[in-house]
Amino acid sequence: MTHKTSAMLMALFLSIVCLQFVLITPVAAKNKDKPVEILKGFKYMSKESAQCVSCHREKTPGIYAMWGASKHYRANVGCYECHKAKPSDKDAIKHKDFTISVIVSPKDCSQCHAREVKEFDASHHASAGNILGTLDNVLADVVEGAPLLNGTSPVVTSGCMGCHGSIVRVESDGSLNPATWPNTGIGRINPDGSKGACSACHLRHNFDVEQARHPDNCGRCHLGPDHPQKEIYEESVHGVAFRAHIDKMNMDSSKWIPGEDYTAAPTCATCHMSATKDLPVNHDIGSRISWNLRAPVSFKIDAKAKKAGKKVKPWLQRRKDMKSVCTACHGRNIVDNFYEQLDSFVELFNDKFAIPAKQLITALKKEKLIDSVKFNDKIEWTYFYLWHHEGRRARHGAAMLAPDYVHWEGMFEVAHRFYMEMVPEVKDLIEKARRKGNNKGADRVQKVLDRILNSKMHRWFIGKKPPKSWSPSDDDNHGFKTEKVKK
Ligand code: HEC
Ligand code: HEC
Ligand code: HEC
Ligand code: HEC
Ligand code: HEC
Ligand code: HEC
Ligand code: HEC
Ligand code: HEC
Repeated sequence: MTHKTSAMLMALFLSIVCLQFVLITPVAAKNKDKPVEILKGFKYMSKESAQCVSCHREKTPGIYAMWGASKHYRANVGCYECHKAKPSDKDAIKHKDFTISVIVSPKDCSQCHAREVKEFDASHHASAGNILGTLDNVLADVVEGAPLLNGTSPVVTSGCMGCHGSIVRVESDGSLNPATWPNTGIGRINPDGSKGACSACHLRHNFDVEQARHPDNCGRCHLGPDHPQKEIYEESVHGVAFRAHIDKMNMDSSKWIPGEDYTAAPTCATCHMSATKDLPVNHDIGSRISWNLRAPVSFKIDAKAKKAGKKVKPWLQRRKDMKSVCTACHGRNIVDNFYEQLDSFVELFNDKFAIPAKQLITALKKEKLIDSVKFNDKIEWTYFYLWHHEGRRARHGAAMLAPDYVHWEGMFEVAHRFYMEMVPEVKDLIEKARRKGNNKGADRVQKVLDRILNSKMHRWFIGKKPPKSWSPSDDDNHGFKTEKVKK
């Protein structure tokens, strides 16, 4: 087939798509300013897909069966509609009489699901592949691994990239490099340049919403010592209610609005993505959260963009949206009070431990009491545990109602790490510096440590009486103020 005829066929195909395919109709009355797309499929299956199916029914019965159970099947969206490729595509392969690609990227899905792709593309999920050069990446590339498989550390391939996404490399024959594929990390970088993998959440070839809404779906990546959202959810009252009443959750309903279609419990998707009576489904999972609870020191989610002069959705609006999820099942007061508890918790973590710990590490580096090589000093591991594991667990626990994570798995460990490891290690490094003759550096770090230990929240540790009461804001704040929440 010449390029010209294939281009004509493509144009014909697209016009058929436009004509008989997408139909926009308003959904629930209260949602009427935000029309939701209802996609109607094709009347018939394309003749290309019919050929794929006739052979694959036998060759890959599993894929055939899963696709056969999907809404795509019922809408006559076949193998070819998703897998077709232009000969000029980087990952195009000749397959029987067709040009296809194995990878079906968000760009391919966007032919029919433009809104979801646009929202996803603007989210932190889509950029989760940009972890090269981060502190965690030093761990996987150097500390834990070495670049063995096609120039990539196997720890990165089977570990980090499994959740974050690989940069998919294509060989000259169109086949996919085994160090980079298979992979459905959430921020995968595809051969066509698009970001992400929809099948990170929508397992192929069912692509059903029921599976995507289940907390286990998000829990595939959101678990473990440094971001245990799955475990936190499971021990929260919401997780308890979910497991007790899953049969009343109406998980496969096409419209899924809390308060209308279910009330038993919220899942991760309910709070972070799904529609409410006022909000449409949103594939930007950050669109309802106000804090960044994973950084060494927490900040409001829009703070960096605001500083850079970029216009993004303000944190207060994001919080308002989350509250509108909660109030589908709860009264106003319990929700407002919950946020007061959350804010005061995050501010405490910041002011008491995160900022002082960061100041100590910064001072040690600046005064050359430790060198610039990452993770070769004990105290760097101590600090990493404090904010990246324990401090995150505590903050995530407070955000999603898990007291055990707030305290025993969280702040208890943070406090132990700070007083019993970090402070003694700083003292040792000061001693060591004096022995080596770096008295000036030692003095400066000592000054930082003394200021911290004499501050209101820490002076109990050196045997001084703490004040009867204090709040982080009337402490000396270590030169930093957590942004206060406007009431
Ligand atoms: C005549 C039979 C036949 C037809 C027609 C056919 N396939 Fe296949 N296809 C196969 C077989 C067999 C395999 C498995 C090859 C293997 O085991 O590596 C395969 C593999 C594939 C793969 C995986 C390729 C890889 O490199 O991993 C995809 C994707 C695929 N087919 C899609 C399609 C699509 C889309 C169509 C229609 C446009 C189609 N096939 C038509 C027989 C067929
Ligand atoms: C809604 C879009 C969609 C449809 C329809 C679809 N696929 Fe896929 N398929 C995907 C996605 C997404 C992947 C994952 C590839 C990737 O991006 O890593 C995939 C992967 C595959 C693979 C490689 C993975 C494996 O398990 O071997 C094969 C083979 C395949 N599809 C065959 C088919 C066949 C045959 C049909 C029709 C019966 C079909 N697909 C229909 C989206 C689709
Ligand atoms: C089990 C899945 C999983 C693995 C494996 C994993 N991560 Fe993550 N990573 C996540 C999740 C989920 C988050 C978001 C946590 C949150 O928001 O609380 C994250 C967050 C991060 C962040 C912070 C991004 C930001 O916006 O602040 C970095 C950097 C990072 N990971 C790098 C890595 C590196 C490098 C590796 C391998 C050494 C790795 N991760 C392994 C799931 C994973
Ligand atoms: C973080 C997980 C996640 C990712 C990644 C994801 N989705 Fe979804 N998607 C969901 C959930 C959960 C729902 C169900 C929302 C609800 O409750 O109705 C959904 C629903 C949908 C629907 C049904 C219509 C709608 O908007 O409710 C479509 C279509 C869809 N997703 C397409 C995509 C496409 C295309 C991509 C890739 C750009 C993608 N999704 C990536 C979780 C995800
Ligand atoms: C050629 C058009 C087309 C392409 C390409 C396509 N879809 Fe769909 N998709 C549809 C139609 C039509 C429906 C609605 C079927 C219905 O509601 O009955 C649908 C429904 C869905 C749903 C909702 C299923 C449910 O249980 O309600 C999800 C999720 C989804 N698609 C994901 C994807 C993903 C991910 C891709 C890319 C890998 C993709 N689709 C590619 C046409 C397409
Ligand atoms: C395949 C892995 C994976 C899956 C599945 C996944 N996530 Fe994530 N998620 C990540 C990673 C990695 C990050 C961190 C991205 C970054 O900042 O670089 C993240 C970040 C987030 C964030 C923080 C967003 C922000 O703007 O700060 C939220 C909220 C989130 N995910 C919710 C969810 C929910 C809800 C689901 C399920 C519907 C889900 N995730 C499924 C890997 C995943
Ligand atoms: C009852 C609603 C609710 C449920 C259920 C829920 N979350 Fe959250 N989530 C929140 C709230 C509230 C926050 C903090 C909001 C803020 O910062 O304003 C949050 C924060 C987060 C963050 C941001 C962490 C960071 O590092 O910045 C991630 C990631 C996340 N949730 C993932 C999940 C996952 C995965 C699940 C399911 C296992 C889940 N959530 C279940 C309400 C919920
Ligand atoms: C789909 C319904 C639903 C949604 C949405 C929902 N919850 Fe709940 N929530 C429940 C159920 C069920 C319980 C357990 C019964 C009860 O205590 O009312 C509960 C309990 C609670 C409790 C009581 C905990 C205790 O120890 O007494 C708080 C606080 C709470 N939820 C906060 C929230 C917040 C904050 C949000 C939004 C970020 C939210 N909920 C969203 C259903 C929901």
